[in-house]
Amino acid sequence: MSKIIRVRGTRDISGEEIALFREVERKARKVFYQFGYKEIVTPLIELKKLFERSIGEETDIVEKEMFIIKTKSDEQLALRPEGTASVVRAYVESSMYKKEPYSRFFYTGPMFRYERPQKGRLRQFHQIGAELLGVESPYSDAEVVKLAVSIIEECEVTNYRVEINSLGCRRCRLSYSSTLKKFLEKNFDNLCDDCRKRSRRNPLRALDCKNEACRRIYKSAPVLLENLCEECMKHFDGVQENLKVLGVSFVINPLIVRGLDYYTKTAFEVICDELGAQNAVAAGGRYDGLVSELGGGEIPGTGFAMGIERIIEITKLVVTQKREGVSIVPMSDKYLPFAVKLAMKLRRKNIRVVLDYRLGSLKSQLKRADRENVKWAIIIGEEELSSGKLTLRDMERGTQKSVTQDDLESLLTEKNGYC
Ligand code: HAM
Repeated sequence: MSKIIRVRGTRDISGEEIALFREVERKARKVFYQFGYKEIVTPLIELKKLFERSIGEETDIVEKEMFIIKTKSDEQLALRPEGTASVVRAYVESSMYKKEPYSRFFYTGPMFRYERPQKGRLRQFHQIGAELLGVESPYSDAEVVKLAVSIIEECEVTNYRVEINSLGCRRCRLSYSSTLKKFLEKNFDNLCDDCRKRSRRNPLRALDCKNEACRRIYKSAPVLLENLCEECMKHFDGVQENLKVLGVSFVINPLIVRGLDYYTKTAFEVICDELGAQNAVAAGGRYDGLVSELGGGEIPGTGFAMGIERIIEITKLVVTQKREGVSIVPMSDKYLPFAVKLAMKLRRKNIRVVLDYRLGSLKSQLKRADRENVKWAIIIGEEELSSGKLTLRDMERGTQKSVTQDDLESLLTEKNGYC
């Protein structure tokens, strides 16, 4: 029979990599706790229209990259391509915003985008993200940047830079859009097909084009940052001041437009060049119109998300798996009932117990126990059972001694134990 292989753009994560993966999540949880963020778990599937309405119908994510599921009752669902829309949907749906608009959430989990897989770009990837709802102050924009940077530093990534921009409010974006539209029309013949469409439907999206020829043209495009209204400019100044207060170094990159339409005012990316072409390790910004777009009140929001696979690619964290627990080594199947009972007794004391039912010679069982990375092996044979004592072997040192069952439990639960 032919092998069934995994879906293109997905990965299996196990062994040392899963230990690192969980360590990154653990570090993030620690930082979220310190900043007062609470966890939220939302479904992996949502109504397709949630993403059309929040991310925007004319974005690449919605137009080309969603995994769509049609149910038997003809409902259109989508595997979530990101977390913000779901968090805001949950916040509005549960009417949380009426009782307490001020909320801080964090989440971790898989996201799905039907992109062309390449290094650092998967079709199923994992994000750690946070959303801060209900705060207009530029302090909140700075807080989420600091949050992202704190997690990145906890993960011992040092070679990164924070790039920020302001996309303005809906009003200043509208007037900028018509200026940009004129620029795109002037260069229409030299644009790629996608940008020609974008120039008519959503000119700002054109600036996100990856086509080299288009990118060259956009170097001389009018800059949104120079066309902000007074209030947006003041907000952007405030974000910069607060980032300085928080000790976050940053550069202004007026070319950041982001691939999602919900952003207003602040947009940021944390870049690490070591990652290669897909060099954003985290990204986010403000989305003041999203809550009302999804049926809630006029409530502002800011947030960010980072890709766990990208963090793992650049982290200097090393997770060493220390020896833990015990392997029970019965010398024949005659001793298995005793071994099984002993294993359960020790597990109830919260000791890690590995029992390998394949048995075999002492040498081969000890070899397997070593591969399990246990601290001890308990050897059970005729001599042990008749004397009422068990042989406890220190797997690191290779030393052995006889112990009673009562002594065994206290030795294994003691901090330094027999070893
Ligand atoms: P995003 O920029 O689309 O933003 O994704 C955030 C991060 O997810 C990226 O910087 C990258 O590290 C990772 N990522 C995205 N796509 C892939 C992929 N195909 N393969 C591997 N990693 C990927 C958002 O998702 C927004 N929801 C962020 C946000 C939260 N804005 C406000 N709140």
